[in-house]
Amino acid sequence: MKTNSKSEERGTAAASKAVKTKTDAAEGLRELLEDQLKDLYWAENALTKAIPKMIANATTPELVDALSEHLDVTEMQVTRLEEVFKSLGLKPEAKKCEAMDGLIKEADELMKSTEKGVVRDAGIISAAQKVEHYEIATYGTLRAFANTLGEQEAADLLNVTLDEEKEADAALSAVAESINVEAAE
Ligand SMILES: [Fe+2]
Ligand SMILES: [Fe+2]
Repeated sequence: MKTNSKSEERGTAAASKAVKTKTDAAEGLRELLEDQLKDLYWAENALTKAIPKMIANATTPELVDALSEHLDVTEMQVTRLEEVFKSLGLKPEAKKCEAMDGLIKEADELMKSTEKGVVRDAGIISAAQKVEHYEIATYGTLRAFANTLGEQEAADLLNVTLDEEKEADAALSAVAESINVEAAE
């Protein structure tokens, strides 16, 4: 009990420091949303250039198909993000996303260091799934921020993309199962 009340005290003190007023918190959250939207806009644009490289390096037809389909989807997601900016009364703006830049660089290195065929394909899938998981985490978070701020249109748009990223991840998992068996043989 004693340790509990102590940590509770600390928690309360920290909370009253961080959350001064409701308006401050909402402003902070809105800033976070806007900032991360710019990151995401950079990331999706970068992916429209990175995915074609993955397609050129892939050999398994199912993987080529899955990546090609997601390239089309990604191009639509760029446009959808522009709608999100618009719904928030903002102009689309990109800010370099260091995390996505790193994931894309890793994918490039992986493709250079493997032989073309099932092993490189397995590597491409692992890189692509890391990208999808990053996107799923980001879209999920931003949808929650938009919901909290009462930005329903933005939340709905972000949710459409979130579902597409989950679909892409599932499609890659399905291709991975068949490729990993082949790569191990
Ligand atoms: Fe995306
Ligand atoms: Fe994606």
